[in-house]
Amino acid sequence: MHIGTTLTNYIIETQRKLPEATGEFSGLLNDISVACKRISDLVNKGDLVGMLGSAESQNVQGETQKKLDVVTDEIFVEALAHNGHIAGLVTEEMEEIYQLPASAPRGRYLLLCDPLDGSSNIDVNVSVGTIFSIVRAPEGRDDPSTEDFLQPGTEQIAAGYCLYGPSTLLVLAVKGQGVQMFTLDRDFGEFILTHQDIQIPEDTKEFAINMSNQRHWEAPVRRYVDECLAGKEGPREKDFNMRWVASMVAEVHRILCRGGVFMYPLDEKIKAKGQNGRLRLMYEANPMSMVIEQAGGAATTGRQRILDLQPEGIHQRAPVVLGSKNEVEHITHYHSEA
Ligand code: F6P
Ligand code: MN
Repeated sequence: MHIGTTLTNYIIETQRKLPEATGEFSGLLNDISVACKRISDLVNKGDLVGMLGSAESQNVQGETQKKLDVVTDEIFVEALAHNGHIAGLVTEEMEEIYQLPASAPRGRYLLLCDPLDGSSNIDVNVSVGTIFSIVRAPEGRDDPSTEDFLQPGTEQIAAGYCLYGPSTLLVLAVKGQGVQMFTLDRDFGEFILTHQDIQIPEDTKEFAINMSNQRHWEAPVRRYVDECLAGKEGPREKDFNMRWVASMVAEVHRILCRGGVFMYPLDEKIKAKGQNGRLRLMYEANPMSMVIEQAGGAATTGRQRILDLQPEGIHQRAPVVLGSKNEVEHITHYHSEA
């Protein structure tokens, strides 16, 4: 594979390496890229096509939906429901899993996705993204159940994200095939391979956390951030930098490019709401953890590997600590000592 090749070519060549591939998986990746291109176009045009602002509705998690949350969800359904590449689909915006129309051909895969992540950033023209996760559908079942979707992250066949920033980038991790980055050439509408086999530096001096939650944090997180803030004079003996975009896709992308650590840990405020984390396991934490691990990084809840979690619900939440390997291990070690 060479820099400058198209995503379409990459997909075809990857398919050749997988002996059992029938072309369905390639078709699915292509469907996802089409959905992402449509979303990229709308995000880009923004106000010009009346896409900004609230939809005056709430999603299943009780969050106010933006117009783009609703539209991007429809784009995914439209791009996937009739092509015969999936047996089922679920997104952040859906209360229940989406049942394909009876007339639609069934495929061998299930898709889980967050069509528009970081949506608080839409109206202020800051990066947003799409996150997706692909697992196998159970054989011989036309209408998979919710339980069929509840597979641990280790079962993902592929995962990735599309970042709608100054450039539109698609980052793809096919199981065992590394992590590749494609940049959308808007003039001729193709994703072009621009970075191959991305590897995250094992060490870092950059962390990302929402500092406004500091008073709610658990002791190990408090200790870790305090030590970062103490800089050269503290126990870490180096100055740290901090970033918080409030778009997980942008955060993960920065880490992929130059290392770093991203945390949305469990804290007292989250616990008081009866939740187990802020981010959603199935279509945020799991796919991002797969991308990060395949690029040589690590992803834990602070206490255990995210990809090993046995999911119990489609919209279940999980604490997230991910990024440069040594830094994630450091934070996880602090949790085990506490
Ligand atoms: O989907 C959740 C999300 O938008 C992530 O993209 C982002 O990392 C996080 O929420 C931002 O959280 P907060 O609103 O606490 O800054
Ligand atoms: Mn999200």
